Order: sequence, then structure tokens, then C-alpha cells
Amino acid sequence: MSREKVYRALAAREGEFLSGESLSASLGISRAAVWKAVEQLRRGGAAIEARTGLGYRLIPEDRLDMQTVAAYLSAPTENLRVTGQVDSTNSECRRLAEQGAPDGTVVIADSQTAGRGRRGRSFASPPGMGLYLSILWRPDCAAERLLPLTALVAVAVCRAIERCGGASPRIKWPNDLVLSGKKVCGILTEMTLEGETGSVESVVVGIGINCRQREKDFPPELRGVAISLDMAQEERVGRAALAAALLEELDLLRREILNKPERWLEEYRRRALQIGRPVEILRNGRTLRADALAVDGQFGLTVRFQDGTVETLRTGEISVRGVNGYV
Ligand code: BTN
Repeated sequence: MSREKVYRALAAREGEFLSGESLSASLGISRAAVWKAVEQLRRGGAAIEARTGLGYRLIPEDRLDMQTVAAYLSAPTENLRVTGQVDSTNSECRRLAEQGAPDGTVVIADSQTAGRGRRGRSFASPPGMGLYLSILWRPDCAAERLLPLTALVAVAVCRAIERCGGASPRIKWPNDLVLSGKKVCGILTEMTLEGETGSVESVVVGIGINCRQREKDFPPELRGVAISLDMAQEERVGRAALAAALLEELDLLRREILNKPERWLEEYRRRALQIGRPVEILRNGRTLRADALAVDGQFGLTVRFQDGTVETLRTGEISVRGVNGYV
């Protein structure tokens, strides 16, 4: 049957585009029959991409397991756990921290049943769609020195996406990654302090990147605000490759954050999306209009309110968005 022939031909060159013409010639069926077979295969759930001028290709399986992630890493990593499902990679990392897990422990999951976002929100994490990754660090420093951490992790994620041939995300203050005006990644940092000294006992950085979703895969309230890498770009970025790139960028950040933060701050400023734009600030139940002016040395957002007052906002109970929506 044409359907099986077409599938076998595409599977033999998985990931490569084969034109309708070449398939038709090699399989001895008409181009219309090739097209019909592809349509039938897609209806049956086969992941076949059709692109004008290029033809058809079987999209490579987007494996997210220990071996595949390890294969992309340039150096072997101990304490890496890749799992199918977990409540939340941040919660799992925190549990491991309580049991004494070492600095650099990483938890990656294909899906989360109780993914957590900032301000007590949930983070939609369905199977096969995203990269959910948390890392445990045990830096030997005072909490203030890590104030820029979440913002700088945003820079590391931007770099990882770019390294994998992805688009160039911008950053919506303080730490959402944005593509085409919509959120592609969120970051949640949780710190545990030592009671007596106030120094950092552990910090868990959790990163959630939307990869494979189509508009319909997002919960209704996120449609129009959220985007995935697949929606934003033609090239598909595999989750395992992305995880490995991210671990390497995070490792670099870990080594530089305490002694070379300026370079990262400079890059953060370059990627900051709202500078020079009007924004709305939601604080204590009130919405105020302002112009975003700059990001200061401590990653505060300096804004000018309509009455001329200039203030630098720190994260916390403040939410900043564009005047016409998310950015
Ligand atoms: C936000 O934008 O509100 C932050 C979202 C953070 C989501 C990530 S997914 C991996 C890690 N595990 C969680 O439960 N949350 C973070």
C-alpha cells in the first residue's frame, strides 16, 4: 500500500525532507498518491511535516531520557535525574536537598502533575510538550549576592535556546522569556537560608520551557499569551539537546555569577524588552501607567510614572505588563 511505502521511505531518512517528486519517482506512485498517503498517515498520528518547496519529513522522536541528555553533554554529569513524571521538579529538588543531595543535582521531567509558577500560580506541564528542569545549588554566600540570580538564569536560558539553533528570546522584566510578544519560558527560584547566619543553605532554580505546544495545547487562559519554540520558529529544537545546552550555560553562570556579574548584566540589559516602552504596574491592587527607563545594577526596573516620579521597582508583589497586554 502507498501509505506504508511512503512511511518506510520517510522513516529510512528520518528528519530529512524528501520532495513529493522524488518520493513519487522512487516509489513508482503519483505525486497525488504521495500527498494522499501523507494525509492518511498524519490523520493516524504520524508526525510528518510538509513544507512548501522542500517536501515531507518524518519529525525525529523528541526523546527526553537520561541517555539522550547525557549524549548531548560535553562532559559527563553526576547527579542528573531524568524522569517521565513528577509532581514538580522544584519540589523534587527541594526534597533531595533536604536528604543532603549535593550541589549541582539536576531533576528533569517530561511532565509535571503539580508544576509551580511564581506567586503561587500553577505551571501547565503536559507530557511530551516542554522541558521542565530544576537544579540545586549550594553556593557558599550571603543571600543578597544571589539577588540577580533569577534574572541571570533568564540570560542563560536565552543563550541555550540560541545555541540549539533556536530563535533569540527577549526578557520581560524580571525573568520571563518572550518570543513574538508571548511567554515561552518561566523561571522559579526558591532559596533556603541557614537560620543563624542568614547565608544560603540551598537554592533551587526551576525552568519551564514550552517546546512542542500548538495554540490548542495551552489552557484557554494562556492562549494568546503563551507560545512554544515550535510555534515561534521553523527549526525544531530537541528537548534533550536543549536540556544539555541549558546545563552547560547554567554551569557557566554558576561559575561567573559571584565574580563576573557585569557581563551578564550587560547581556540582560540588551535583551530587556520593555526599556523605552510604556508599561502598566500592578501593585497592591492598583494599576499605574509608567515608562520603563532602564535596568539598574541590582536588576531593578527604573520607571517614570505619569506624574513624573521616578522609581526603581524590585520584584516581589509587583507585576509589570505592556499597556495592551502581556508585553
Ligand atoms: C513562572 O513563570 O511563574 C515560573 C514558572 C516556573 C516553572 C518551572 S517548570 C520546572 C520547575 N518546576 C516547577 O514546579 N516550576 C518550575
